[in-house]
Amino acid sequence: MRGVLVVHAGAGTWRNVDEEIIRKVLSDALKRGADVLESGGSALDAVVEATISLEDSGVLNAGLGSVPDLTGKVSMDAGVMDGWSSRAGAVAAVTYPKNPVLLARKVLELTDHVLLAGSAADELAARLGLPKHPGPSERVRKRYEEVLKKASSGDAVFRKSFELAKKLGYLDTVGAVALDREGKLAAAVSTGGVILKFPGRVGDSAIPGAGFFANKHGAAVATGIGETIMMSMLSLKVVNLISEGYLADTAARLAIQYHTSAHGRDTAGLIVLDYRGNAYGAYNTQAMPWGYVKIGGGEPVISGFKKS
Ligand code: GLY
Repeated sequence: MRGVLVVHAGAGTWRNVDEEIIRKVLSDALKRGADVLESGGSALDAVVEATISLEDSGVLNAGLGSVPDLTGKVSMDAGVMDGWSSRAGAVAAVTYPKNPVLLARKVLELTDHVLLAGSAADELAARLGLPKHPGPSERVRKRYEEVLKKASSGDAVFRKSFELAKKLGYLDTVGAVALDREGKLAAAVSTGGVILKFPGRVGDSAIPGAGFFANKHGAAVATGIGETIMMSMLSLKVVNLISEGYLADTAARLAIQYHTSAHGRDTAGLIVLDYRGNAYGAYNTQAMPWGYVKIGGGEPVISGFKKS
């Protein structure tokens, strides 16, 4: 096995989206991550590289394309985990870095901690000289104005961001999992969170076990409504199923089935990879574009678009 990389563009309704653009974004991310694996890089290097590519696309809800919170500002969560060492790094509610996944990796590599949040994490990003986020793009600002026009005003908005997100057509979070030639697994995730979230809200993407997890048997990244994913510890659950002997596809289907029975439909998706190199994407939303590539095993496979 020379390596496998899996990426996703977020679970959601995926209404009014140009499928060709998203296919291109996914295949660019697969190519960048696969180049890393092919040249002998680690699974962790590959998932970070693929996630940076997704963050920089500007059309997904992460990095440059992050959706606005209730005040029109962008704040982001991200995490990485190395399954071999069982170590994770994560950041929550950060505004400074263009690529929160890079800052999450720095937390893993440079500190004894797992999760840094808010302004102190932003200061670390600045001190490390990481590229700065330019703020909400024109596209994101326009979206915010449209969404606010459609949303009811005042307190109702505070309490209804999930309903609104579903009604308005949401897409959520990016992520990657990989297996390298040494048989090591890793996971990375990055998000702008739920549209119109309360400022200061943190989702599953900053929490190991919830939004991401990896060990020596499997790696997983979750996407969807973070509050439900945190309550079911979805990524840990699916990796535990793999550790008990299930293959990636059965484990992913079972985990999403449990999640749906506890939290309802339209709440979550997962990409999963097991130590044998089996890759799978499962979701209870209308769509979750995702893809994988096996190094030396032919062309990338991309699927998960909404059926028209
Ligand atoms: N799944 C990303 C979030 O809820 O923040």
